[in-house]
Amino acid sequence: MLFFSLVTLFGAVAAGQGAARRDNSSLVVTKVPDHVRPYVVRAYTLDGVRIGSQIYRFPVTGPSSDNAFTLISTAAPASSELGVLPHIHQAHYENFYNLRGRFALWASKDNATSGRIFTPGDYGAVPHNTTHSFQILDPFTEMVGVIQPGGFEELFYFLASANYSSSTYAPFPQGNFTSPGGDADTISKLQQFDVWAQVQFTPPMNFDANGTSGDGGAVWKNGVNELAKDSETPFFVAKGYGPKVLSSSADKTSYYVVEPFITATQSDGNFTEGTITLSQLPPSSQPQEWSLPGHTALEVVDGLVCVKVQGYEEELSLSVGDVVFVPGNTTWSFWGEAAYSKVLYVGQGRETLDAKLRAEGRQWESVVWPA
Ligand SMILES: *[C@@H]1O[C@H](CO)[C@@H](O)[C@H](O)[C@H]1NC(C)=O
Ligand SMILES: *[C@@H]1O[C@H](CO)[C@@H](O)[C@H](O)[C@H]1NC(C)=O
Ligand SMILES: *[C@@H]1O[C@H](CO)[C@@H](O)[C@H](O)[C@H]1NC(C)=O
Ligand SMILES: *[C@@H]1O[C@H](CO)[C@@H](O)[C@H](O)[C@H]1NC(C)=O
Ligand SMILES: *[C@@H]1O[C@H](CO)[C@@H](O)[C@H](O)[C@H]1NC(C)=O
Ligand SMILES: *[C@@H]1O[C@H](CO)[C@@H](O)[C@H](O)[C@H]1NC(C)=O
Ligand SMILES: *[C@@H]1O[C@H](CO)[C@@H](O)[C@H](O)[C@H]1NC(C)=O
Ligand SMILES: *[C@@H]1O[C@H](CO)[C@@H](O)[C@H](O)[C@H]1NC(C)=O
Repeated sequence: MLFFSLVTLFGAVAAGQGAARRDNSSLVVTKVPDHVRPYVVRAYTLDGVRIGSQIYRFPVTGPSSDNAFTLISTAAPASSELGVLPHIHQAHYENFYNLRGRFALWASKDNATSGRIFTPGDYGAVPHNTTHSFQILDPFTEMVGVIQPGGFEELFYFLASANYSSSTYAPFPQGNFTSPGGDADTISKLQQFDVWAQVQFTPPMNFDANGTSGDGGAVWKNGVNELAKDSETPFFVAKGYGPKVLSSSADKTSYYVVEPFITATQSDGNFTEGTITLSQLPPSSQPQEWSLPGHTALEVVDGLVCVKVQGYEEELSLSVGDVVFVPGNTTWSFWGEAAYSKVLYVGQGRETLDAKLRAEGRQWESVVWPA
């Protein structure tokens, strides 16, 4: 009896040690880690900061990505004013993606000014030294911003009129808040955060029926949008009108339609960004595994997407606005759970998820995979 008890005891100790080697604490956090580790944040569960009527949340920060990039979510009601006074960044490449509602974005460089009305899925690139501003237009609008390098959230902590936390996960609060644009005096003090006011710039408000101003008549939702050929030119890609590549999982059972916004060409190899539309993983298939040299973040923008990360037992199902962050050299997988799903991806460096999918894929004309 004693013998058996000892075996049981040793067995239990050994099993306990085996389990302890693995960090099976939940991937899901409600506060973004202050160091690099895998994690998931659910939409609207993060505390944020309020600037005027806009709520800023930071699913990926400088500390959580080792300054690879910052991922910003801005949820706000419509405003009759600009959301920020016109400005440039000299050392940060900024990107705008529309998750919900409508906003106007203006970008101006070398005397060429373009304004666009963004509906969900539309994208705009704001390279270094591009004057830009935006205005929120719908009752619930959400912009997703990617800024490279990371750490840019410090600006918003500095500018915050209040911290924001909601026990009901309300995306933003009710109330008559003052214009978030900021006065010229404040914005001129922000050069320490790489914000250089361009108060002489007046965004052209005369949008045509297709949603363009400044360079009215430019292709916007009525033809193909190319990516810029260099890392300096601002550009816009309307949802579904950019370049597309069809790729499939190694076992050929799942499809990926990759729509790049930023490749190594536009970022000088600093990062990549775009969307991947996913078919559903068939029940008999195993999800494809990845291990990439740089950090990766995915934000679900449509459908339901599952993720599994090495060392964590959970298979998590992510819905719109949820974000997973995966450090470089971590084995992980993601797959479509709904029939149609889509993620916005951001990858550090040039050997990114999309770079691999695009290298294996072929040019494709449709926004969906083969029927
Ligand atoms: C992992 O899970 C096992 C079984 O639920 C548990 O005994 C162990 O303590 C957990 N390890 C960690 C690091 O949380
Ligand atoms: C941006 O402008 C600053 C100041 O004029 C200049 O030093 C810098 O080289 C510019 N950067 C790029 C990428 O053009
Ligand atoms: C922009 O316009 C101004 C005034 O017309 C001109 O002096 C300047 O050279 C232009 N800059 C570029 C980059 O075209
Ligand atoms: C938000 O909270 C942080 C940490 O508690 C604090 O340092 C900061 O002053 C707060 N910001 C505002 C605008 O209240
Ligand atoms: C906001 O301000 C406007 C104009 O001052 C006023 O009519 C309206 O009732 C206010 N709304 C709220 C929610 O306080
Ligand atoms: C708007 O788009 C339509 C095609 O959808 C095109 O015929 C028309 O010329 C465009 N209008 C402008 C002002 O570019
Ligand atoms: C890429 O990163 C390097 C090093 O930080 C920086 O000098 C360069 O301006 C960046 N280029 C772009 C397009 O972001
Ligand atoms: C992953 O490993 C490669 C090769 O050892 C290395 O170059 C890279 O910096 C690593 N990535 C991270 C994020 O540590």
